[in-house]
Amino acid sequence: MPGRRPLVFGNWKMNGLGQDTRALSDRLKAFGPITRGTLGVFPPFTQLQAVAEKLRGSGIVVGAQDCHEAANGAYTGSVSAAMVADTGATAVILGHSERRHGLGESDALVNAKAKSALDAGLALLVICIGETESEYLDKQTLAVLDRQVEGSIPADIDPDRLVVAYEPVWAIGTGRTPSREEIASVHAHLRGRLAAHLKGDGRSVAIQYGGSVKGANAPVILGIADVDGALVGGASLDPVDFAKIFTAGGGSFAAPGS
Ligand code: PGA
Repeated sequence: MPGRRPLVFGNWKMNGLGQDTRALSDRLKAFGPITRGTLGVFPPFTQLQAVAEKLRGSGIVVGAQDCHEAANGAYTGSVSAAMVADTGATAVILGHSERRHGLGESDALVNAKAKSALDAGLALLVICIGETESEYLDKQTLAVLDRQVEGSIPADIDPDRLVVAYEPVWAIGTGRTPSREEIASVHAHLRGRLAAHLKGDGRSVAIQYGGSVKGANAPVILGIADVDGALVGGASLDPVDFAKIFTAGGGSFAAPGS
């Protein structure tokens, strides 16, 4: 899909009360309409509807950070994919490492959530994969990623509705990143793996890198072959740095007022 890349998404995690997320949304909108690339934000559930309303018509994708695998029912405290869609959000992050490792989510659970998000009609699923530090040191990265691709991503998903975020767990929120060569070889490997795993054209799936992406390192990271964008945590809470990441990857805004 020409013009869709780079895809730069901000995962706000458990940050932001109403006044913060309103201000952040206004700042992003003020950069002007997007003329190239895809920008997205993933606020906490409590702010999802307000942010979706504020950003309606801006072209900025709004999504949730998770959803439950069931369509509805007796699941106290959970939010279904249909409820996410009902807020006006069109995307969802699934399998983030803070849920896989922090809350014990398995590949099978992520897969079930993905099916439920597809059934609910969400346009875009961001499925996160990544190795832990000990797996990295044991040189298990590719084996871990293959297992996660196989187990977490429904093979019949429409490739246009899928974004895969490669996020080494040890790079999230640490200020550390793999080398340019390591990112390039993992992404090239994933491109082939997705082609083999998906029924549709797996080569066309957008693959984001995530883990300590900032304005300062974005030109290098987003310049790597097969890196189609970034999933950004901490730096996405600063609109100026977030926009810098987007433009470093070739994204552009129309000049305000034009
Ligand atoms: P970070 O988080 O940019 O703060 O490292 C990335 C993520 O968790 O998606």
